[in-house]
Amino acid sequence: MSVPTTDVFRADLFKGKVAFVTGGGSGICKGMTEALMRHGCDAVIVSRTQSKLDAAAKELEAATGRTCLPVAADVRNPQEVIAAVDKAMAKFGRIDILVAGAAGNFLAPAEHLSYRAFSSVIDIDLKGTFNTIKACIEPLKQSKGCVINVTATLQYAGTPMQSHAASAKNGVDALTKVMAMELGRYGIRVNGIAPGPIEGTEGITRLMPPNMTADYINTIPVRRLGTIGDIEHATVYLASEAGSYVTGTVLVVDGGSWMNQNTPMWMGLEMMLQQGPRSKAKM
Ligand code: COA
Ligand code: NAP
Repeated sequence: MSVPTTDVFRADLFKGKVAFVTGGGSGICKGMTEALMRHGCDAVIVSRTQSKLDAAAKELEAATGRTCLPVAADVRNPQEVIAAVDKAMAKFGRIDILVAGAAGNFLAPAEHLSYRAFSSVIDIDLKGTFNTIKACIEPLKQSKGCVINVTATLQYAGTPMQSHAASAKNGVDALTKVMAMELGRYGIRVNGIAPGPIEGTEGITRLMPPNMTADYINTIPVRRLGTIGDIEHATVYLASEAGSYVTGTVLVVDGGSWMNQNTPMWMGLEMMLQQGPRSKAKM
């Protein structure tokens, strides 16, 4: 299990800095935000649901003593993202660390996936990541900041029922490399973090039925699910000076799980195809 990031990294690592985090109101990206704030950062968290963001911002401020600005925006809409960046700049005057983590996913075999459903996930995960990076380029040039794209490992194989998310995350990984090439000249580093199965998150609830957890854990080389704390450590490392010569790469934090393709998706494909479109998989 992971120890607190302050056991490993200096507590004032990000003092005076500001993080802009899409998806920061819940799950993994909320944990990433809390880790950055714990080390001295202020933060802006962005997603579609203002009430969720307001509650999360209060929790993050209480946990860290730093300031968190909650801003509602849909990453699919460039104008809303630009407006969120403007609000961040009006409040804090800088953005040093961009975490692009907003995403959507569900299990669906391609033959049961509507054209609109495929587009929705591409629009959120891939185009949303592009929209967010592009809107933050000027502030990041000023701060010589860094970008962390939250990706995944399911695109490393032909993971069943993930044509939409695998295509989107592969695109995100391509974007990580291209943006690292283009933005390095401004002192901006661009990397990705690819979480494996992280316990207690919306992602794992959607992709892995609870009755499959024990069998699945036996297929993971380190024999446990990941924690949000595991992703926090990777975030602090990449955003810190310790990562200053690291760009254009994806840090996989998955206990080695992607190397074993015995995932719930592989195990559940036949069942889901038999159950039909939009079935809640009871695998
Ligand atoms: N299986 C198959 N299709 C699905 C689906 C599912 N479980 N859930 C949604 N869809 C389809 C919808 O039917 C719709 O297609 P249609 O108009 O042809 O019927 C399309 O996806 C868009 O759905 P909608 O609910 O209108 O989209 P949205 O933009 O509000 O939501 C989602 C985006 C679908 C990705 C939604 O799951 C979401 O908001 N997720 C965010 C949280 C999340 O997924 N967290 C885990 C991150 S790993
Ligand atoms: P989560 O809590 O559902 O996080 C997704 C976030 O994205 C939510 O806060 C959601 O908030 C926001 N979002 C969705 N659509 C949006 C949109 N159109 N515009 C703006 N914000 C939007 O899920 P999670 O499991 O923690 O996943 C976080 C990240 O980790 C994702 O990038 C995911 O792909 C990645 N990941 C997770 C796992 C895992 O095991 N959980 C594994 C691999 C990768 P709103 O609904 O309020 O908009």
